[in-house]
Amino acid sequence: MTATSTLDDANLTHAPASSPRVLMCRPEHFTVSYRINPWMYPENPTDTGLALSQWSVLYDTYRSLGFQVDIIDPLAGLPDMVYAANGGFVLDGIAYGAKFHHQERGPEGPAYMEWFRAQGFEVVEPVEVNEGEGDFLLVGDTILAASGFRSDTGSHKEIADIYGREVVSLQLINPSYYHLDTALAVVDSTTIAYLPSAFDERSLGILRERYPDAIIATEEDAAVLGLNSFSDGHNVVIAERATTFAADLADRGYNPIGVELSELLLGGGGVKCCTLELRS
Ligand code: ARG
Repeated sequence: MTATSTLDDANLTHAPASSPRVLMCRPEHFTVSYRINPWMYPENPTDTGLALSQWSVLYDTYRSLGFQVDIIDPLAGLPDMVYAANGGFVLDGIAYGAKFHHQERGPEGPAYMEWFRAQGFEVVEPVEVNEGEGDFLLVGDTILAASGFRSDTGSHKEIADIYGREVVSLQLINPSYYHLDTALAVVDSTTIAYLPSAFDERSLGILRERYPDAIIATEEDAAVLGLNSFSDGHNVVIAERATTFAADLADRGYNPIGVELSELLLGGGGVKCCTLELRS
C-alpha cells in the first residue's frame, strides 16, 4: 500500500456493498513457463518469493477491509492458478465452471469446480469455452460478457440460461487486454471504468449508452493493468501505478487503495485476476 492510500472511510459518499466473500490462490507455483498472452515472456526469470509477498499484501488488504477471504490450494504444474478470477463465475450460490481456451490451463477448471462443490456451491459444468470472471463481470443485475480472445460467445448464452440475468455481449479487440477484467472495472452497481480502445465499435456504443458517466481510463493506467481492480462499492483496490485512475476514483468519492503486483503482471494479471467473488 502507498503512503497516500488509506483504509479510512472518512470520505464516504457511496454506500459500500456488504463485505464481499472472495476466493484467492497463493502463488506458490507461480512462474511464466509458457506464453498465452502478450505479457508473458517465458525466457525472463520470475521470482516466486516476490510474487508470494506481493500477493500477501493483497490478501491482507482484503482482510483489513473486512472481506471474507477463502483460499484454494495451489497445484504444482499450474503456474497460472493464482489468477482465481478465471476459476469460474459464482452468483446465487451457483458456480458456473470454467473451460479454458488454452490447454495449459485446462486442469484448473476441474480443480476449481471440486473446490466449489466441497464448499456447498451448486456447480454447473460448462459446455462452452469460458474463463470465468475474467470475461464475465456483474454490474448491478446485468452480466457483461466478453469474447474475442478467450471465452466463446456460446458461453454468453449459457450463462444467461443459468442465472436468468440480462447478459450484454462485448467484443475485445486488443490482445494485450484479452480478458474483460483487464479492460473494464466494476466500481459499484451502476459505475464502471473502461479503456475504449480495447473494444470494437459496437461494444463501445453499448458501453457509452449504458454507462454515460463511466470513468474513461488512460492507456497508461490500462498498461499497468490498472483496470484490473476489485471494489466493494467504496474501497477500490487497484494497481499502485494507476495514478490517474486513482485520482478519478478519489474525485468521485471512492477510496482507491494501491497495491503493487509487479511480479504477477509478468503473467499478465493483476488485482482482479487474483480475486474471484463468491456470491451466495
Ligand atoms: N497468464 C494468465 C492467462 O493468460 C493470466 C490470467 C489473468 N486473469 C485475468 N482474470 N485477467 O490466462
